[in-house]
Amino acid sequence: MNPIKHVAIIMDGNGRWGLKHKKSRNLGHRAGLNTVKKIIKSTIKNKIKYLTLYAFSTENWKRPQNEINFLFKLLDSFIDKKISDFNKNKIKLKIIGNIELLNNKLRKKLQKSEQLTKKNNRLQVNLALNYGSKTELIETFKKINKNKLHINIKNIERNLYTSNIPDPDILIRTGNTQRLSNFLLWQMAYSEIFFEKKLWPDFNEKDYNKILNQFKKIKRNYGNI
Ligand code: IPE
Ligand code: IPE
Ligand code: MG
Repeated sequence: MNPIKHVAIIMDGNGRWGLKHKKSRNLGHRAGLNTVKKIIKSTIKNKIKYLTLYAFSTENWKRPQNEINFLFKLLDSFIDKKISDFNKNKIKLKIIGNIELLNNKLRKKLQKSEQLTKKNNRLQVNLALNYGSKTELIETFKKINKNKLHINIKNIERNLYTSNIPDPDILIRTGNTQRLSNFLLWQMAYSEIFFEKKLWPDFNEKDYNKILNQFKKIKRNYGNI
């Protein structure tokens, strides 16, 4: 049986769900947040130590301003309402991505929340915000260059946003789309990938457990036989 240390999720399909059910993409994002809460709980139940959630990509700035504003407002109120629960449940929050571009107030709130939860050790939730794998790799190589380090696997991994985090065992992408959309390209070299037809707001604990159980049966070769 494969142990599961780290699950990464591309939470896709909110917009389509909103249009289908409530006639607005933004209400789909709100519904998606409920799935986030359920999946965090279920990750704890399954004793998985790291959960990485793709919340906003470096490419998502192309979206209409009203949708971008809504997403960040949703995040802002999620942090306000949930950060004390994070502490109660011993969840550590870490942001991966370049948050310099976010407004000052939200950036400070996120940094404060990371600080507040940094000693928690039951589950680490990595929130990928203004995250892009290509930007991450460029920033990594710049740091390596600045510190005059050799370019090797160890030095690259030490300088990624995900330093000290094991690579994802599992990637789940909901929303019936089969692509990586610039997510954790280096880190997922050997992840097992599960594409799920359901839209993110419809994804539930049962679907999640089904994937975790399927994963446990996979023979991971890493090039060996
Ligand atoms: C993913 O859902 C959530 C974010 C990008 C924030 P989408 O908004 O991409 O939903 P679809 O793919 O348009 O349905
Ligand atoms: C990926 O979904 C980004 C997030 C889930 C945050 P997108 O909906 O942005 O991906 P593409 O544009 O369809 O590839
Ligand atoms: Mg999408």
